[in-house]
Amino acid sequence: MNLFNVYQLYDVTPVKANDIFVTDENNITFLDFYGGHGVISIGHGHPYYISKLKEQIDALGFYSNAVKNPLQNKLAEKLAKISGYPDYNLFLCNSGAEANENALKLASFYTDKKRVIAFRNSFHGRTSAAVSITDNPKIIAPINSCNPVTFLPLNDIDLVKNELDKGDVCAVIIEGIQGVGGLDEGTTVFFQGLEKLCKKYQVILILDEIQSGYGRSGKFFAHQYHQIQPDIISIAKGMGNGFPVGGILISPKLKASYGMLGTTFGGNHLASAASIAVLDIIEKEELIKHTQEMSTYFIERSKTISQIKNVKGRGLMLGLEFDFEISTLRKELIYNKHIFTGGANNKKLLRILPPLTVQKKHIDVFFESLKEILFDID
Ligand SMILES: Cc1ncc(COP(=O)(O)O)c(C=O)c1O
Repeated sequence: MNLFNVYQLYDVTPVKANDIFVTDENNITFLDFYGGHGVISIGHGHPYYISKLKEQIDALGFYSNAVKNPLQNKLAEKLAKISGYPDYNLFLCNSGAEANENALKLASFYTDKKRVIAFRNSFHGRTSAAVSITDNPKIIAPINSCNPVTFLPLNDIDLVKNELDKGDVCAVIIEGIQGVGGLDEGTTVFFQGLEKLCKKYQVILILDEIQSGYGRSGKFFAHQYHQIQPDIISIAKGMGNGFPVGGILISPKLKASYGMLGTTFGGNHLASAASIAVLDIIEKEELIKHTQEMSTYFIERSKTISQIKNVKGRGLMLGLEFDFEISTLRKELIYNKHIFTGGANNKKLLRILPPLTVQKKHIDVFFESLKEILFDID
């Protein structure tokens, strides 16, 4: 049987990894400035994380959500404390798309409405409702296009108000910082405007922090730069450091009822143990403060390269914009300098998403390599 051929693969086969390094089958070691799509938060193969997962699988790997799982309560308690959302409730699932799917479902249950306001260049995942509010017609199948959605440009609050005035909107969904789209973000005035309008019209404000959350932006959630409190926050990626897990933080105004949401695997014992270990490490190693420091250093160094026209994003969720398309540059970085980076819908933008444990010496290697390649390209 062949694999369903949907991924255009780089010719690299990783077999092991440690912190910010990934080693392939030919024993070549790569510097990971991509974190496998922004997933690796606390570094590959963190010994504490591994020990906690091993401990858990020895004890109990899985049981369903039909019985009590105190690990989920422990995770919720830790998450409440570190995120600053003590009175929100947690629902656990398995991926980012699923988190958004459940967020939209809750919004629709709560308001008894179904139109969603999303933003141009958004990416919210590939399941039915999540993909329908993703601004990429190429990945929306006819069966997904039955959810009513309106895409608006970022930062035009009057257009949002016009749509909410129509009275049929259940949710406004926005990424803390756009990831796949290319690191654009709402202004503080815009985020605060959304919060105000959603309250006024009783529409649910969903913050997709799947990529920008868990410290990656230099705050636990990127929206915390704007002093707002959304009704639902979706999380995944960095939450499990590679263990598939996602979730939504839900405002107490949204009341639960039995059977309203559900999942077989969501929040299982291993997923919960992995997620608790990640939070322990973020806290113990002060990775959010470290992210801020490394971000400042990275941005300073990027200013010394004249071909970089713009640096976008925050924390360690950054984009380097050039005045040429970066696909060759990205290949050179991988094959000649052994550094993983990312691309975006914006073809001129190189996406930088290293583990939050990255250090100055790794950033130095990245910029020296980048300079050498740019010199050759010139
Ligand atoms: C902002 C955002 N939302 C949702 C998703 C979907 O997450 P998943 O691939 O885990 O379904 C992604 C994935 O890249 C994302 O970046």
